[in-house]
Amino acid sequence: MKFFIDTANLTQIKEAHELGILSGVTTNPTLVAKEGVDLKERLKEITAIVDGSVSAEVIATDAEGMVKEGRELAAIAPNITVKVPMTTEGLKAVKTFSNENIKTNVTLIFSSVQALLAARAGATYVSPFLGRLDDIGHHGLDLISDIAEIFQIHDIDTEIIAASIRHPMHVAEAAIRGAHIATIPYKVISQLVKHPLTDKGIEQFLNDWNNR
Ligand code: E4P
Repeated sequence: MKFFIDTANLTQIKEAHELGILSGVTTNPTLVAKEGVDLKERLKEITAIVDGSVSAEVIATDAEGMVKEGRELAAIAPNITVKVPMTTEGLKAVKTFSNENIKTNVTLIFSSVQALLAARAGATYVSPFLGRLDDIGHHGLDLISDIAEIFQIHDIDTEIIAASIRHPMHVAEAAIRGAHIATIPYKVISQLVKHPLTDKGIEQFLNDWNNR
């Protein structure tokens, strides 16, 4: 499983990139709004740092508008992936992008059949939202297992991005259940690095070394 960072914050992207583990970035309108920046300018900055897929979401809700916006976003850099919401209009737009070899990430996936539809429309990636399912009393991780099984049975090469990640166990479980990618907030990436026994071990090694 590969790691993407789920943010539009440049400092966080640079720091994750320096760890050497970053394969891509996902943004969404909320994350970009939080930064108070121009979307296209920020995408230029992000794609100058990260070689892998950088997802940028369309705002339009009709297929024609999504295609127009998506083409503009894709023209910013070769590694832009156009993020499209899981709607009937979104599926039509994904088909058009697929015919034009523009990569897509179908977002706001909450059922396995939505993921299958998106894949059949030609999506490069699907993003099931774990945390938001957990929030309403469902088991978000089961959705990853279901999609992974369906894609395997039907020999589908659309990649699964585990999204709406809230804590380290989401990441570990998404990997076991067959997600190709987890897109993770910076705070959770930091949590993944740490283990109390690692810290304790370092402290003990240093003490023993200094007291030799
Ligand atoms: C995914 O691409 C989304 O940007 C993101 O994971 C949404 O997460 P949230 O539910 O924490 O907003």
